[in-house]
Amino acid sequence: MADKIKKTLVTYALPYANGSLHLGHMVGFIQTDIWVRAYKMQPNVECLFLCGCDGHGTPIMIQAEKLQITPEEMIAAVQKEQNLDIGDFLVEIDNYHTTHSAENQELVTTVFTAHANKGNISKHTIKQAFDPLKNMFLPDRYIKGECPRCQAKDQYGDNCETCGATYSPLELKNPYSTLSGVAPIEKDSLHYFFKLQNYSTFLQTWTRQGSLQTQVTNKLDEWFTMGLKEWDISRDAPYFGFKIPGEDSKYFYVWLDAPIGYMASFVNLKENLKNLNFDEYWGKNSEIPLYHFIGKDIMYFHTLFWPALLAGADFRLPTAIFCHGFLTIDGQKMSKSRGTFIKARTYLEHLSPEYLRYYLATKLNDRIEDLDLNFDDFTQRVNSDLIGKFVNIASRSASFIHKYFNGELSAQLPESTLLQEVAAKASTIQEKYLSREFNQAMRQIFILADLVNQYVDTKKPWTLIKDNPESLEVQQICTLALNLFRLLMLYLKPVLPSMAKKAEAFLNIPPLQWNDATTTLVAHTIAPFQPLATRIDKECIKALQEASRHATV
Ligand code: MSP
Ligand code: ZN
Repeated sequence: MADKIKKTLVTYALPYANGSLHLGHMVGFIQTDIWVRAYKMQPNVECLFLCGCDGHGTPIMIQAEKLQITPEEMIAAVQKEQNLDIGDFLVEIDNYHTTHSAENQELVTTVFTAHANKGNISKHTIKQAFDPLKNMFLPDRYIKGECPRCQAKDQYGDNCETCGATYSPLELKNPYSTLSGVAPIEKDSLHYFFKLQNYSTFLQTWTRQGSLQTQVTNKLDEWFTMGLKEWDISRDAPYFGFKIPGEDSKYFYVWLDAPIGYMASFVNLKENLKNLNFDEYWGKNSEIPLYHFIGKDIMYFHTLFWPALLAGADFRLPTAIFCHGFLTIDGQKMSKSRGTFIKARTYLEHLSPEYLRYYLATKLNDRIEDLDLNFDDFTQRVNSDLIGKFVNIASRSASFIHKYFNGELSAQLPESTLLQEVAAKASTIQEKYLSREFNQAMRQIFILADLVNQYVDTKKPWTLIKDNPESLEVQQICTLALNLFRLLMLYLKPVLPSMAKKAEAFLNIPPLQWNDATTTLVAHTIAPFQPLATRIDKECIKALQEASRHATV
């Protein structure tokens, strides 16, 4: 009987549709993709990786206005662009949908109605800043003024960048709307609220059941101590989002429908893959693991609101939520003037996606730590480790096999325990990937690469071949080196999928899977060598930084 297929569902946070993706976004996409690829290299597994763009909210409405197009047109264009960027970073997503979709609207209504029926929704009037010229309520980030504590000018409505004070926008001195420049007035408005506090007990238990990283659980404890409060889930027109059922000019807040977008992406995929069963994946008793990968800034929404929304609407809960840290560039927050605000596309125009995938893999772990992209370090690691220690093993040995042995690998391997030693690490490395300790996986792989290089350096096939151009010994040494390379390529495949494809082509083998670590390649003809990667040229980095300084955000 065939083994049962183990199914898994994975998502990455849905990027806002008001702009291009930048390298910060790629951290999470690459992390998730590496995990998914490592997972899919196991036998009898199926793993869906869903995402899409987050199409709602005031910034999207404002940006479309600026571009003089409809928000619908803007999101459609951005969705397409983001999907291309992600694909070109070799991130393999099964469906890149959008939250502004019929599927999402229907699911949002289902979730909202379920909660309304359970008495989890309340309505009351609140005071909010209002722009009398634009005739709209203003989100905090659209109000600036003088800090009430240090008097610094042009500070945002929620905190002061000069002295670090936090406050409400109503406390700012001489406040003005960043949209019109006029002083906002206070105005009453009726809002809908989700009574998150009704889920306090449930969440305190759920968040401690091993679904979250320790750092997240600790942070949540602080929030639990302060007490969960009701959550404002409505916004007044003008807004771009889904209208609240029965209301004329009130909309659901973008964060209500955003995570539901994960489900909508699934439903949309189901249109094409008819054998997918919604309840099997999303029903209350689903046994299929569901993993959400997200950045640390959106932890609150995913670990509190989202599980509460799901639980109350009788859907399944996430199996785990994995938070990653933020990317800084050369030690700083990305900044346009320093040329460190790097769009995903600008990077791709200058450098290979696999360099960044590899560099991030050397840094990513299972904790929430910020990662720095330091260009000197980046160049050094790619050139001396990736190319110098790994890629070169293949080029040296393959060229010998072609030049002197007609592309034939020897029938036997030489005396050496190295192959067993390297093969024995397969399960540890696989585990490191699946537990998101990519940095440890990389470290182990490059310790092995050092051993392989030492082996070749000691054997000196280039000297041996001079005395005897048909030397069986040289053929065996190069065959072993290629076998070792094949294992290292297998171990690096989740990170370097395109190199792996080229390697599979010249080694003339089917796609590498974890199981292949137990086999060897002997008495086999290899195909013409395909160069796997070249060194980073410093000029490319300079050109990337220069282009980023001039790119429009
Ligand atoms: N639309 C929401 C997510 C909704 S999920 C139901 C959102 N969008 S975002 O475009 O601001 O961010 C998308 C993802 O990119 C998030 O996981 C966020 O943490 C991540 N990052 C954005 N800037 C980042 C860095 N500088 N570094 C690392 N990740 C970053 O939030
Ligand atoms: Zn201040």
